Amino acid sequence: MNELNLPSDFIKNIHNSFDEEGVQFIKELPRLIDEASQLWHLHDVRFVPNLSYNFVAFAGRGKEDVILKIGVPHPELNSEIDALKLFNGNGACQLLESNARRGFFLLERLKPGTMLADLTDDDERTNIAIDVMQKIWREIPSASRAQSASSNEKFIKLTDWFGELKKIRPQYNGGTGPFPKKLLERVESFLPELLADENIKLIHGDFHHFNVLLSERGWLAIDPKGVIGPAGYEIGPLMINPWGSLSDGSNFKAQAKRRMSILSERLGWAQENIIKWATAHAVLSAWWDTRPDGTGGEYSLWCAELFEGL
Ligand SMILES: Nc1ncnc2c1ncn2[C@@H]1O[C@H](COP(=O)(O)OP(=O)(O)O)[C@@H](O)[C@H]1O
Ligand SMILES: [Mg+2]
Repeated sequence: MNELNLPSDFIKNIHNSFDEEGVQFIKELPRLIDEASQLWHLHDVRFVPNLSYNFVAFAGRGKEDVILKIGVPHPELNSEIDALKLFNGNGACQLLESNARRGFFLLERLKPGTMLADLTDDDERTNIAIDVMQKIWREIPSASRAQSASSNEKFIKLTDWFGELKKIRPQYNGGTGPFPKKLLERVESFLPELLADENIKLIHGDFHHFNVLLSERGWLAIDPKGVIGPAGYEIGPLMINPWGSLSDGSNFKAQAKRRMSILSERLGWAQENIIKWATAHAVLSAWWDTRPDGTGGEYSLWCAELFEGL
């Protein structure tokens, strides 16, 4: 695999997200692919058409169809591998092999691989999403919930993610930059209460319509981040996806309302809390996407403001 011909958008993503490490990663990728291919006896490695933050490829192992995933080694990648191990194919694709130190792992290929985003009936999408998320949530024994508990050390803490919002004001010299002040203040005011929720679980952490795929075993999740926190967070990425599909505010609001009532009825959560989690995640997502010049988070902020008005 010397001539990779990777899409330039993918290379740009990796460079922007991982700086020097990302540059190294792209350079070493052909060698990493060869190494993984030899280790696991892979043939016909072809990358998927929608590469974003990791190298993901269709491959064969003997007669078996598999997926090879290679990422820049970092804590989130380890957490993904550990979450997949814990799910053990239950509600999620099966992890077949992994080498966390080298940043690569092998997955069961989901066929046909239709994404939830490919369906058009939004109620159907939401109901399927609820079925799958409930299968993958894992109880965290209360004795091991503490930050220091070593069995949970390997997973991402939701409190760490939301802690990043504290960087917004220093970034804009005490102001809120592109973040509407009222919106940020509201999220800051209800966040402690949301995070104090007792319903702590190991959740997927990036549960949206491009990470739920149809397989011969039914609908399954791929690409978990492996996050420990209140299960309510799981609906955040779902509520703002499929990304950019509705740009008309009143249609978006009508869809959000329907989703909220389905989620509330099936999960037994108060609609008010669903709105709060959706708003909090949308603001966090905007922060992650905001570039140094202040642009990038527009879509998520637009969603957050619409959730506020539900
Ligand atoms: N187990 C799988 N079976 C079939 N297709 C997959 C599988 N895992 C990933 N893909 C395809 O590769 C794409 C990117 O994979 P994903 O793990 O979501 O990467 P990223 O971490 O970069 O988002 C998915 O949207 C899907 O189209
Ligand atoms: Mg993904």
